[in-house]
Amino acid sequence: MTTTEREPIGVIGTGYVGLVTAAGFAELGNDVWCIDIDADKVARLDRGEIPIYEPGLAEVVAGHRHRMRFSTDIADALEHARLLFVAVGTPPTYSGDADLSSVHAVVDAMPASDEHALVMKSTVPVGTGGAIRRIFAGQGKGGFSYVSCPEFLKEGSAVADFRKPDRVVVGDDGDWAGDAVVDLYAPLDAPLVRTDVASAEMIKLAANAFLATKISFINEIANVCEVTGANVIEVATGIGLDDRIGPKFLQAGVGFGGSCFPKDVSALKQLAGNSGYHFQLLNAVIEVNELQKRRVIGKLEKHLGSLVGKTVALLGLAFKPNTDDMREATSLVLSARLQASGAQVRVYDPIAENAARTLMTGVDFADDALECVTGADAVVLVTEWSEFASLDWAGVAGRMGGNVVIDGRNALDPEAIAAAGLTYEGIGRS
Ligand SMILES: NC(=O)c1ccc[n+]([C@@H]2O[C@H](COP(=O)([O-])OP(=O)(O)OC[C@H]3O[C@@H](n4cnc5c(N)ncnc54)[C@H](O)[C@@H]3O)[C@@H](O)[C@H]2O)c1
Repeated sequence: MTTTEREPIGVIGTGYVGLVTAAGFAELGNDVWCIDIDADKVARLDRGEIPIYEPGLAEVVAGHRHRMRFSTDIADALEHARLLFVAVGTPPTYSGDADLSSVHAVVDAMPASDEHALVMKSTVPVGTGGAIRRIFAGQGKGGFSYVSCPEFLKEGSAVADFRKPDRVVVGDDGDWAGDAVVDLYAPLDAPLVRTDVASAEMIKLAANAFLATKISFINEIANVCEVTGANVIEVATGIGLDDRIGPKFLQAGVGFGGSCFPKDVSALKQLAGNSGYHFQLLNAVIEVNELQKRRVIGKLEKHLGSLVGKTVALLGLAFKPNTDDMREATSLVLSARLQASGAQVRVYDPIAENAARTLMTGVDFADDALECVTGADAVVLVTEWSEFASLDWAGVAGRMGGNVVIDGRNALDPEAIAAAGLTYEGIGRS
């Protein structure tokens, strides 16, 4: 390689993290060998289709397609690249621990080599890197290097997050592989945290646990605002201007979901528990979040009485706007809870309907927001897609059977809704 040449890399797992990482490095000029066990996904990617909804990703892939190869055969990556980024899923198990079976499948597929390194992007419990190095040693692959490089991108803005990360964390043993990963990220000019493997692993879990704590905190403040007459939006503005607190993650709502926060908070709680430490704060964060999702039912019952036979329209299903990701979405809990209370549930999401159809049963899917609210006794905003903020509320009022609007994300204009003759209720805005 000349100094201007970029290092070829492998990316194992082409989901939200892997595909964005692969596309981002291709944009930086790296040749990228993308590997996935899902043959159908690989075939679609090879045809130029993007299997997930992530703003801007299709354009980056299309623009740098000539530097991206897609395959199901890990040997293709091993042949061309010494750095193998691992971005396979680490979902929760029934015990709340992380399921590392996909990570171990990758570890077991590695050959003995002194020239390759696994670069762990997947979120794994603290100690995983140490355990993998012991496995490598036991399998006669002690020369295989290992780097922890946790990922912090956010679905919905993942491409921008890759290009401009808040920080790059590299945890390693100080060998060639850590240096090579630092060099790879150098063009992004991001703050670098170079540390040991266990600390890098903990940085990821602690960051997500802290963000989840902030959400549960503001949700509890919102609940107290409701009974004391304060307005959580004013309160969040007032506390967020303190730069020790900051304004982000202070939006009260119907609880957090997604593929990361619930599982990473639970994994950290389990990790602590398995090591003999009772992480009290995280227990509360999780419980507050579960209760927050269910508080919507109480709000509906306050206005409608029994929900038996009532029709409730859910606007937005994805766990947050600008993604099709339905993993651990609040809408799943809400729709199940509503049906258990005897309500008919009609739902609409501008992007996530296909993903939702695989996870939701017993609900009617509408093609647009106005169809969704037609005949409904109550409307609940669950995901704050921007199109819902500009809904024609007079048109909504004309179609609804009832008049209740629960704004589960404090994203709607209460005055516009009241002017249409509807009853507005947000979260923490009495
Ligand atoms: N999604 C996020 O916002 C985000 C952000 C930061 C970190 N993470 C972490 O990154 C990891 C990946 O998350 P994701 O959301 O991209 O998951 P994902 O489910 O979207 O993608 C995982 C991919 O890995 C593939 N895969 C599974 N086993 C494989 C194997 N043995 N070999 C090759 N491919 C395999 C799957 O087919 C899938 O395409 C997780 O550990 C997650 O916690 C996710």
